[in-house]
Amino acid sequence: MKTKSIGKQCIFFDEIDSTNTFANKIASNNCESGTIIVANSQLKGKGRLEKSWISEKDVGIYFSLILKPNIELIKSNQITLIAGLALCNIFKKLNIHTQIKWPNDIILNGKKIAGILTEVSAEIERVNYIILGIGINVNNKNLNNDISSKATSIFLETKTNFSRTLILQMFLCEFEQMYFKYIEYINFEIFLKQYKENCITLNKEVKIIYKNKEVYGRVIDITQNGEIVFLDNNNEQRIVVSGDISIRNIDGSYI
Ligand code: BTN
Repeated sequence: MKTKSIGKQCIFFDEIDSTNTFANKIASNNCESGTIIVANSQLKGKGRLEKSWISEKDVGIYFSLILKPNIELIKSNQITLIAGLALCNIFKKLNIHTQIKWPNDIILNGKKIAGILTEVSAEIERVNYIILGIGINVNNKNLNNDISSKATSIFLETKTNFSRTLILQMFLCEFEQMYFKYIEYINFEIFLKQYKENCITLNKEVKIIYKNKEVYGRVIDITQNGEIVFLDNNNEQRIVVSGDISIRNIDGSYI
């Protein structure tokens, strides 16, 4: 690793329940910021919003990165957005042209190939630690029927096997540069233009789960803090910090 701190400490498991669960157990001890937990497979991989993350052995990348930034709780979502952008950037270097579905699903040819689950421990204002749990479908030759309409793998889209080690190394290097820049100014705005360029949710008709209700409307902007500006079908404007969004296809279905 050519990084300064990210990924310098690495704990590897051939099989584990969830790298995020393990990271949560060790993060409050004096484990260093930048420690990663990597697994070759997970038995209980966790996704966002109580979903699961299917973590087949030998083909995907499953890891959790423990970070201890000195930031306020409300800024922690920005680190997740930066991680999504770092993924997009490294895929571009590998000639894989992905996009970000806000806040941080990575989409290739209209289907999801990677996701980020962020878990935060904080006092009222200060963050104790952040766990960025990242799952990437890399060399999967097929995906479970339940998810295959919405998810895919890099192999299925490119017919090429990629080295998982290379992707992980590239991500850690890219993310470290961006993270250090962010930590210096605690300012998401420096990444905003780049984030918008890679974001497919912007200017799209969407369905959003907001306060446990489905709301339909359009995403009209992304703020300097990384929230979306959402105009619902009654012309009411809301700022949304995080949520579950589906984008409307031409045929009226949602992805
Ligand atoms: C999502 O729902 O899009 C987020 C998926 C995050 C999956 C990763 S795999 C490594 C880490 N450990 C987990 O249990 N989940 C995350």
